Amino acid sequence: MKGIILAGGTGTRLHPLTATLSKQLLPVYDKPMIYYPLSTLMLGGVRDFLVISTPTDLPMFRRVLGDGVELGLHISYAEQPQAAGIADAFRLGADFIGSDPVSLILGDNIFHAPELPDVLWRSLTDVDGCTLFGHTVSDPRPYGVVEKGADGRVVGIEEKPSRPRSSEIVTGLYVYSHDVVEIAHQITPSARGELEITDVNRVYLEQGRARLHSLGPGSTWLDAGTYDGLLSAAHFVRERQSRGGRIACLEEISLRLGYIDADACHALGRKHKNSEYGRYVMEISSERNRGRLEHVAE
Ligand code: TTP
Repeated sequence: MKGIILAGGTGTRLHPLTATLSKQLLPVYDKPMIYYPLSTLMLGGVRDFLVISTPTDLPMFRRVLGDGVELGLHISYAEQPQAAGIADAFRLGADFIGSDPVSLILGDNIFHAPELPDVLWRSLTDVDGCTLFGHTVSDPRPYGVVEKGADGRVVGIEEKPSRPRSSEIVTGLYVYSHDVVEIAHQITPSARGELEITDVNRVYLEQGRARLHSLGPGSTWLDAGTYDGLLSAAHFVRERQSRGGRIACLEEISLRLGYIDADACHALGRKHKNSEYGRYVMEISSERNRGRLEHVAE
């Protein structure tokens, strides 16, 4: 299964933090931000990844994630020279997508939802059109607001409405059938010169091929692209991890999914042996602690 992580953009809402550093490599408590979207797609069964970022930042992502082989993944990279919009991912990723369904996740979106691995996996195995993932927020006005019909199909999407018709917004996780490439080539850039993801989603909506999965009440979705979002994300991760286990521990997910064995996992943990993260990876790789892996599927 294929997944694209969009990790470019300008990150102006986080300036001056992101004036010289890539947003998606900033720390979210104990790990780089990109670990979180990567782990979300991994849990949904994605093993083949395309990471898209700016020409300046891409070498750093390569250093952090490599080719993915150590984790049992395949990670390739593509440059986005200008912030040409989220839907530009499908033009840049056309060869990568080929004739397969694809999931796209924004590199600054953090999800923690019990049902997400299963739902994502099912969407990727049987998507005809697109599946959007909705989350209820108290103030939907700054977002893409979505309305769903009784059969789970999307009946309306409004970008940043002053009077929202629902409190459910479109998060930065999407699943598409391969024809998304064609659609992304057909749409025209918006007034701000970007290929908008909403325009792609509207095409599927008009064709009656857009579905919405509403993330359940026990789920968390965070946009870590603002000062408060970044801090909330760090607090969330710290709080959850203080109860045991670790969120977005890539080595653990690979071990649990059977991509790597315990020895390989232990060796990966040893690379970070002076940190709690590294010690955790070494610990869970020992056979007697296998039971603790269960929390990943919470
Ligand atoms: P945004 O947060 O909407 O944009 P941004 O990252 O440029 O930040 P800001 O609004 O603060 O200036 O982008 C959402 C995600 O998509 C984020 O991970 C960056 C990524 N992105 C790209 O990689 N390329 C793009 O052209 C755009 C628009 C976004």
